[in-house]
Amino acid sequence: MKFFLDTANIEEIRKGVSLGLVDGVTTNPSLLAKEGRSLEEVAREILDLVDGPVSLEVVSTQSDEIISEARQLAKIHKNVMVKIPMISEGLKALHVVAQEGISVNVTLIFSATQALLAAKNGAAIVSPFVGRLDDIGTDSMDLISDILTIYDNYEFPTEVLVASVRHPVHILETARMGAHIATMPLKVMEQLLKHPLTDIGLEKFLADWEKQKQLVSS
Ligand code: G3P
Repeated sequence: MKFFLDTANIEEIRKGVSLGLVDGVTTNPSLLAKEGRSLEEVAREILDLVDGPVSLEVVSTQSDEIISEARQLAKIHKNVMVKIPMISEGLKALHVVAQEGISVNVTLIFSATQALLAAKNGAAIVSPFVGRLDDIGTDSMDLISDILTIYDNYEFPTEVLVASVRHPVHILETARMGAHIATMPLKVMEQLLKHPLTDIGLEKFLADWEKQKQLVSS
């Protein structure tokens, strides 16, 4: 499973990269707005730090404008993946830009049929939002499993990127299913590596070793 960080914060990306776990980054207009800087400035810093796909989202909602925005974003760097929302105008734009070789991440996916349409029109990646579905009392894990089955049935090359991740169980369950990518906040990435028994075990190992050192030296 590839791990992406879901943030536009440079410090968080630096921390994730130092763990050796970051295969890519996803941003969205809300995450970029939090940073209070221009998309291009933040994007260039992220692209310098991460050697992998970096998703940058269009903000237009008409297909012609989405197409020109997608072309502009793709020009920034070879690792830019253009995020296009799952609306009819987005699907039209996807059909055009995918044929030009632009890698597209179709975002705001909440149903398996949306994911099917995105794959048919050439999406490189789809982003189903699991946390937001859970928030409204829907079982988001069924959605991931359905999309993986459909893509498998028709041998679509489109990858499933689990988005809107809230906790480690989202990663565990979707990794069991074989989802290709998960994008997560740094907090979730850090939670994945922690276990209280690891800390207790290490504390005991080190304390025992200290005791033995004192015995040998006395
Ligand atoms: O970037 C898309 C997605 O991961 C957003 O997550 O936490 O705002 O639902 P969230």
